[in-house]
Amino acid sequence: MRDFELKSARYIAADCLRRFLLPGDIAVDATMGNGHDTQFLCKLVGESGHVFAFDIQEQAVENTRQRLTEAGLLERATLCCVSHDQMSEYVKTPVQAVMFNLGWLPGGDKRITTHWKTTRSAIEQALHLLDQNGVCVICVYPGHPAGDEERIRLLAWFTSMKPQDFNVLHHRFINAGPGAPECFILQKQPGSKY
Ligand SMILES: C[S@@+](CC[C@H](N)C(=O)[O-])C[C@H]1O[C@@H](n2cnc3c(N)ncnc32)[C@H](O)[C@@H]1O
Repeated sequence: MRDFELKSARYIAADCLRRFLLPGDIAVDATMGNGHDTQFLCKLVGESGHVFAFDIQEQAVENTRQRLTEAGLLERATLCCVSHDQMSEYVKTPVQAVMFNLGWLPGGDKRITTHWKTTRSAIEQALHLLDQNGVCVICVYPGHPAGDEERIRLLAWFTSMKPQDFNVLHHRFINAGPGAPECFILQKQPGSKY
C-alpha cells in the first residue's frame, strides 16, 4: 500500500529534529508554551543530553514543569521564565539545535504573542550558538499582525543570507491561503562566519 502524504510545516520541523538530534546533544526550545516541544526535545537528547527552554509566561513554565515531571524528564531540562532574546545569557555552550514555534500559547491569551523585534534578536543569538552543521527550525503563523510581520521579515532576512553561512529551507503550502503555518529550517555550514 502506498504510504505518502504532504506534511504540515510543524511536522516537517519536528521531523528534521527527529532525524538530526542524537543522544548527548544540547538543544534549545525558544518558545516553551505547554511543553510539548520541550518534552519532544528532551526525549531526543536522551539522559546524557540537555534542553534549555524559554517562555515569558509563568503559566507556560509551570505547564511544562508538570509535563516533564510526569514524564520523568525534568532533569534533562533547564526552564527559564525569561524572553528568548536573553538566550545567550543562559546558554553558554554550543548547541546542536534550536526550535522556535512562534505565536501565542494554545488555549492562552492571544495578546501574549511573539514579536519581530525580540524574535529577530533571539534568532540572531540562536544562530551564533549553533554548532557547525547545527539546525534551527522556526514555525511561523501568519494571519494576524505580529505573525504577518514575522513571516515577511524572516523571509527577507533568510533570502539574503549567504549560503556559505547557512542553507535555508522554506516550507509552505502555496495554495492553503494566507494564514497557513510555514516553517524555515536553517543549517549552519562548516566555516560559517556566524
Ligand atoms: C505557539 S506557543 C509555543 C508552543 C510550545 N512550543 C508547545 O509545545 O506547546 C508560543 C509561546 O511563545 C511564548 N513567547 C512569546 N513571546 C516570547 C518571548 N519573547 N520569549 C519566549 N517566549 C515567548 C508565548 O508565551 C507562547 O507560550
